[in-house]
Order: sequence, then C-alpha cells, then structure tokens
Amino acid sequence: MSVNIGTAKDELDKNGFLDMDIDPALDLFDEINKLKQEKNAVILAHYYQEPDIQDIADYIGDSLGLAQKAEQTKADMIVFAGVHFMAETAKILNPSKKVLLPDLKAGCSLSDSCPPPLFKAFKEKHPEHLVISYINCSAGIKALSDIICTSSNAKAIVDSLPKEQKIIFAPDKNLGAYINKTSGRNMLLWNGACMVHEIFSLEKIMKLKERNPAAKIIAHPECEDAVLRMADFVGSTTQMLKYTETDITNIFIVATEAGILHKMQQNSPGKTFIAAPPDNACACNDCPHMKLNTLDKLYLCLKYEVPEINMNEDLRLAAKKPIDKMLELSRGFGLGV
Ligand code: 13P
Ligand code: SF4
Repeated sequence: MSVNIGTAKDELDKNGFLDMDIDPALDLFDEINKLKQEKNAVILAHYYQEPDIQDIADYIGDSLGLAQKAEQTKADMIVFAGVHFMAETAKILNPSKKVLLPDLKAGCSLSDSCPPPLFKAFKEKHPEHLVISYINCSAGIKALSDIICTSSNAKAIVDSLPKEQKIIFAPDKNLGAYINKTSGRNMLLWNGACMVHEIFSLEKIMKLKERNPAAKIIAHPECEDAVLRMADFVGSTTQMLKYTETDITNIFIVATEAGILHKMQQNSPGKTFIAAPPDNACACNDCPHMKLNTLDKLYLCLKYEVPEINMNEDLRLAAKKPIDKMLELSRGFGLGV
C-alpha cells in the first residue's frame, strides 16, 4: 500500500490518527514485528490497552514502569500505546528519539482537570508548599512541580519528606486523600479526579461481594475513599497484578480500568477476575481515552511515523526536573523495573 504523505497529514489533522484502509489479508502482528525490527522501535503499553496491543507490546506496565522503560530504552523510536501524558513523559526523557502515539486524541480526564494557568495561580497562593504532582498531568503542570509521583511510589515519596514540609498534591484528590490517610499528612489537594475510577458503584460491589464471599476486592488508589475502605488491597496496576499472582485467593473483584483483567487472566489462568461494576449500565470502567488506540492505528503509526509527540525545549527541560527527581528517588527505594 502506498500513501501520499500530504493526504496522511491532512487526515491526521482532522482525526488525531491516520485513518486509512488496511489490506484485510495483512497479519498485523507480523507486519508490526517487521516494522519494529526495521526501525529499531520499541512498543511500550499500559495495562489499560486492548488485549491485542498488550500482546504485541515489548513491555506492559504501570506508569512508573513505563517511565523507567522509556528512560532506559536503546531503541531509536518509541511507540507509546497509552495516553498523551505518558507519551509526553517518554519524549521529555528522550528528546532525540521519535516518540509516537497511535491516536493523538488519547488524553486523560484527570490530566484535563488541572489546567496549568489555574494551577499556577493556586500554587502562587501557597509559596511555602512543595508541589508533588501525579504523573497523570500535562508537561505544563510537571514544569510547575517539584517532584512527580505515580500511584506506586506516591506514598514512599511523601514519606521521605520531613513531616513539617507543607505539600500541594495535584491533580488527583482521591490518590492525595489516600496518601494523606496512610501517611498521616495534611497535603493540600487539587480537586481533580479520573472519570473511570470515580464511577464504581459501592452498592453493586457490596452485592457482588455478598454473592462471592471468598472474593477479595482490589482497588486502584484513584478510586473514591468509600471503595478503598472496602478493598483488601490497594495499589497501582502493577502492584494489583502482582497481588493477584501471589495471593492464595482464587477470585478477585477488580476496581480499576477493565483492560488489566487481560493480563491478570493470562498470568493466573486458574483464577477468576470480576470487573467491579460501574454506577450505570454502560461499560464505564473502560477508559475512553486509553481505548482510542487500536491495533490498526498502532500499525499505521509505526509504518508512517505519525502522530509524533513534539514539545518546546524550555518546557521539556522544566518538566524533566521533577521527573528526574522521581526516577532518582524510586531507584533509591528500589521501586519499579
Ligand atoms: P498506574 O499506571 O500508576 O497504575 O495508574 C493508572 C492510571 O490511571 C493510568 O492512567
Ligand atoms: Fe486518565 Fe483515568 Fe483514563 Fe487513567 S484511566 S488515562 S487516569 S482517564
């Protein structure tokens, strides 16, 4: 198949991804593997991606693991099967590499809940506070932060700071409240949240638990406090996955984006995983942003090397500082990959 790159770019402008017919006879797994070798590319994927993408990825992980892999890779090109802030983080760490995102519109409701100008004004009102930002934010917010964290290292990072240190935590109020509770802090919280993790129905989870009394409830700390209080285990996606592999329980109710059930089932084929039900009839525990990426878009993105993540160099350097701090602290804690 040949493509007029002018047309491709027009399509990209309209859609945020290349929308082109793909020969149905093509084996996309073979084609993607060939392109990866040819271009010395690596595919990094989050657990919330669709199963085919997880199966073709070189590395699947949580946000910390993905940032660490992006930092360590020797590949010339990174295809990031995740959302925009993840690919942006990879670009911040790899200015000379080509970083691609299969669908440029794969954003994040949590990141969107914290616009840099508003956050800057908030920060200016609290000049004595150190700013810790969850990695689920834009480069603009990272540039206004002192340390970045993820769900797997947030508590360790906060615990490493002197008790009297005043802290602003942004943008996730649920993760911030959970860290406040577990580390005895009183961090100032930005009022942001993830649309997927706020949708779980406490009532339906309780009914599910009544019907499956042996089940353990595992939850991501982006969930609301009421759900976290019911959980037997709270952790990042990688931590949840590891818990299901090592715990003796055979049945789990999983309160996070449903994409992770694929890996849980692959790694523990004899166990049962039930997605925690949302508060309505829709499949709202599928992240609509994560699920914008498809195997077709991944193939086209790798083949034509668009859409690419680019950013202003001053912004990149300012955003890199707090990410480097997180990576350095995580190495010290022995966390991640
Ligand atoms: P982790 O990858 O840190 O588990 O966070 C989940 C998430 O919401 C990513 O968008
Ligand atoms: Fe953002 Fe929530 Fe989707 Fe993660 S699951 S990318 S936090 S909207």
